[in-house]
Amino acid sequence: MNENNMLCDLGAPRGLPAGVAWHPGHLAPARQAAVLAEVLRCLAEAPLVRPVMPGDGKPFSVRMSSCGPLGWVSDRSGYRYQERHPGTGRPWPAIPPLLLTLWDTLTGYPAPPEACLINHYDAAARMGLHQDRDEAALDAPVLSISLGDTAVFRVGGTARRDPTRSIRLASGDAVLLAGPARLAFHGIDRVLGGSSRLLAGTPLGGGRLNLTLRRVSLPYVK
Ligand code: SIN
Ligand code: FE2
Repeated sequence: MNENNMLCDLGAPRGLPAGVAWHPGHLAPARQAAVLAEVLRCLAEAPLVRPVMPGDGKPFSVRMSSCGPLGWVSDRSGYRYQERHPGTGRPWPAIPPLLLTLWDTLTGYPAPPEACLINHYDAAARMGLHQDRDEAALDAPVLSISLGDTAVFRVGGTARRDPTRSIRLASGDAVLLAGPARLAFHGIDRVLGGSSRLLAGTPLGGGRLNLTLRRVSLPYVK
């Protein structure tokens, strides 16, 4: 067994790679509903758009928006953070207070997140294995919150070929990628359509929302 397998299979709580912290059911149902209401207000102001891959322009299967001073976008010219919604041209809405509180509680990072990516998955959507590496503040964890349908989340090491593990992220689960896992490859293999009713009665009509909070710039350098 090589070192990566050790890390993967034995090294960390729940058998996850070191630095991956999974908090199943961190948000109780009432809190999920409250966060959802705040996120729906953001989406009314900054609608979901379907990004395309840099270069070939292939559409993503997820739709995305953001809140916070910076939003993450992908288009034919590349991936980047920008201060405005690509469709409306307006600044992104502020990160809702409940999400800022979750960031403080779960990360303990001494500066607020600057971007909250809002991904919406329908039952056919997925996300290929990738690293979150467009941020200068690699010392800050990435915090992900899941709402709605359960998803099969895959996480590995910092090299694409490293072994991976998959876990089912249900509504209310939080995951942190921190320290040695900050640059871990991760993705969504599939979404279990109809496994939650949380989004069913909303304008989204069902599916899964994932909120990814990130610190982008180093807080100590101005
Ligand atoms: C992401 O990596 O941007 C999303 C992960 C997830 O949907 O859980
Ligand atoms: Fe990611």
